[in-house]
Amino acid sequence: MTRPHPHGAPTEPDQDQDQDQDQDLDQDLVLAPMRWWHVATVAELEPTVFATDPWTAELFWSELAQGDRRRYLTALWRPQGVAEHDLAAIVGYAGLALADDGAYIQTVGVVPRIRGRGIGARLMIALLRYARQAGARSCGLEVRTDNHAARALYSRLGFVDIGVRRGYYQPSGGDAYVMRARPIDTVGYATLLDEVERALPGRVRLEP
Ligand SMILES: CC(C)(COP(=O)(O)OP(=O)(O)OC[C@H]1O[C@@H](n2cnc3c(N)ncnc32)[C@H](O)[C@@H]1OP(=O)(O)O)[C@@H](O)C(=O)NCCC(=O)NCCS
Repeated sequence: MTRPHPHGAPTEPDQDQDQDQDQDLDQDLVLAPMRWWHVATVAELEPTVFATDPWTAELFWSELAQGDRRRYLTALWRPQGVAEHDLAAIVGYAGLALADDGAYIQTVGVVPRIRGRGIGARLMIALLRYARQAGARSCGLEVRTDNHAARALYSRLGFVDIGVRRGYYQPSGGDAYVMRARPIDTVGYATLLDEVERALPGRVRLEP
């Protein structure tokens, strides 16, 4: 069994090997709470996942230090039977902030090699369900105005544009759309999440 490269695309991927990895990913993808031992790898992945304005390890640490007001998930690939954090490759991650009756997507990223396979959607769905359970009635986020993949994903999950923030991203100075999904505390929204999930390829296990 081969493992996905933990830091993104190998330079010259072998096609057969890639197919094996793809099948493994469908079987062995786990969404788990982000733990302190994930932070160094996540920070190392950041510049690969986010071409501009990557977060530092310190920023992830300060987010995790917020305790109950944050929920961070890592998408892990690991061979079946392997102990919890040994030999697991982080292939994506996402974070949510909770405040009063609203939630806020802090970040979501997937390593370039396996984008377009629903991992970003699964991370978002898991966070949005968590936000609902925590009593959030709406969820907001900012997204670069030229980030079409992310915007397509957010639209599918019921987010709409509610404004623009000029020069929001630093140090690059990129503009952001402000998007919001509301209400998310309804049966209708739960059904939307279920429907989006059902259409996704592969299987994922959610760790408590
Ligand atoms: C945004 C992101 C997290 C989505 O992750 P993903 O695992 O590719 O998500 P999904 O497979 O659920 O696909 C989401 C959208 O990406 C687009 N997409 C499909 N294949 C793709 C590919 N090979 N490469 C990039 N985007 C692709 C699709 O338009 C899809 O939208 P759809 O809902 O119309 O199908 C990922 O592209 C990423 O990490 N981007 C860089 C970091 C980033 O910009 N994060 C968002 C910050 S606001």
